[in-house]
Amino acid sequence: MSPQDTFVVVETQLSRFGLSPFVAARALGFRTVFVARDLGRYAGATGPADLADHVVQADTHDAAALVAAVRSAAGTATVRGMCTFTDYSVHVVAEAARKLGLPGLSPEAAHRARNKLETRRACTNAGVPGPRFAWTVTEQAAVTAADDIGYPCVVKPATEAGSIGVRLCRSADDVRAHFRALTAHERDFRGQAKPVGALIEEYLIGYELSVESVLTGGRRRTIGVVDKVLGGHPHFVELGESFPSMLPEAVTRAASETAHAALDAIGHEFGAAHVELKVTATGVKLVEINARPAGAEITRLILEATGTDLPLQVVRLHAGLPADLAPLRNKAAASRYVTAGATGTLHAVHGTELARRVADRIDVDLEAEAGDEVRSPTSNMDVIGRIVAVGDSAAEAVRLADAALGQLQIEVRP
Ligand SMILES: Nc1ncnc2c1ncn2[C@@H]1O[C@H](COP(=O)(O)OP(=O)(O)OP(=O)(O)O)[C@@H](O)[C@H]1O
Ligand SMILES: [Mg+2]
Repeated sequence: MSPQDTFVVVETQLSRFGLSPFVAARALGFRTVFVARDLGRYAGATGPADLADHVVQADTHDAAALVAAVRSAAGTATVRGMCTFTDYSVHVVAEAARKLGLPGLSPEAAHRARNKLETRRACTNAGVPGPRFAWTVTEQAAVTAADDIGYPCVVKPATEAGSIGVRLCRSADDVRAHFRALTAHERDFRGQAKPVGALIEEYLIGYELSVESVLTGGRRRTIGVVDKVLGGHPHFVELGESFPSMLPEAVTRAASETAHAALDAIGHEFGAAHVELKVTATGVKLVEINARPAGAEITRLILEATGTDLPLQVVRLHAGLPADLAPLRNKAAASRYVTAGATGTLHAVHGTELARRVADRIDVDLEAEAGDEVRSPTSNMDVIGRIVAVGDSAAEAVRLADAALGQLQIEVRP
C-alpha cells in the first residue's frame, strides 16, 4: 500500500463507535478523509476531525456532490474505499461508491434498507414474518390504518434512526397527535429531506434481539446474536445489550434465519448488517434492517467477547481486502446505558468510582457533565453515559454491568 492510499469515511455517529472506522482505516495504513455536511456537529471532545488526515465539508445528502468532494480531496492519491457507519448516509455512500467504482452495497439494496417502508414491502413480498403495516400521508388515513391494525400500535417515521420518533400509540388520539408531530417537519434529524407521512405498524409483543452478520465472498455469516434491553413506553430507548445471546440455540437459530431471509429480500449483497427482531408468541418477526455494523456499544461487546474487530473487518471489505471473522476467544460482554430520570440541568453523577470498583473489567464513560441539559429519555440520543462489563459468560457480564449501573445516582435539578 502506498502512503497516499486513501480511505473515505462519510458522516458518522458521536460516539466511540463513530470513531471506529477512522481508527480502523489508520491501523490499516490508509490516509483517511472525513466528509461531512456540518462540521460543527462534530466539534467538541476528540472527534473524527482529530482522527482524520483530511477533513472535507460537502453536501453528503447528494451522491454527485459526494463524488465530486471525494475526487477533489483525493487529488493524485488513489481512493481505495469508502464507508459510513451512520444509517442516514448508507444510501448516498452506496450510490457514490458505485459511481467511483469502489466496493460497496448496491444502491438499490441500500435504499431498501434505509427506508423502513421499502424494507417492509420487500420483506412482505418475500414472505419474511413482520408486523402488519400501512404507510399513511394524512392524519385521517393514519387513524383509519391504526383502527384496522388495532391498538396499541407503533407509529414511526420511515427514515430516522436511534429510535427517534418511534412511539407506542394506545388510542386514535395518540395516533393523531403523533402523526402531526412526525409530519410537522420536512427534514429528518440530520437535515435530509424525508418522506412526509408515517408508518403505522402492528405492535410486536415480545423481547428483542439483533443478528449481526457480514456478507463476504458471496456468503452471509452470522457473527452472533445480541440480547437487548429497552426502556419504558411510549418510547423505545435502547438501555443495554449483551453478547452472546443467552437464549436457547433454537431461538438464536430462528432469529438468524429470519435475519438472513430479510437481508436476501432487500437484495443485500455486501458487507455488514444489523438486523433487529422481536421474538413473539407466534415466532420471530422482523423489526428493521440496518445495512451497516451495529451502533451503540454492540461492536465493542463483540470485540471484548470474541476478539473480532468488526469495524476493522468492515473497513477492510470496503477497501477490497479480505475479512477475517474467525473468533479468537469465547468470552462475553454487556452494556448498560445511563439516562437521566428527569428533565432539567445535570447537577452531579455520584458513584462512578463505586461502579468501577464492582469488578476489574468495567468501563464507565459519562458523556454529560454538570451543567448540561438532560432529559428523561425519548430516544437513544438522550443517553448520557455507557457502562461496559466483560465476563466469562453473558450472565456474569450482565450482572456486573447492572451492579455497576446500580451504583450511580444521577442528580438533576429542574
Ligand atoms: N412494529 C413494532 N413492534 C414493536 N416494537 C417496535 C416496532 N417497531 C419498532 N419497534 C421498537 O422500536 C425500536 C426502534 O424502532 P426502529 O428500529 O424501527 O427505529 P430506528 O430509529 O431505526 O431504531 P435504531 O436506529 O435505534 O435501531 C425497535 O428497536 C423496537 O424496539
Ligand atoms: Mg432500530
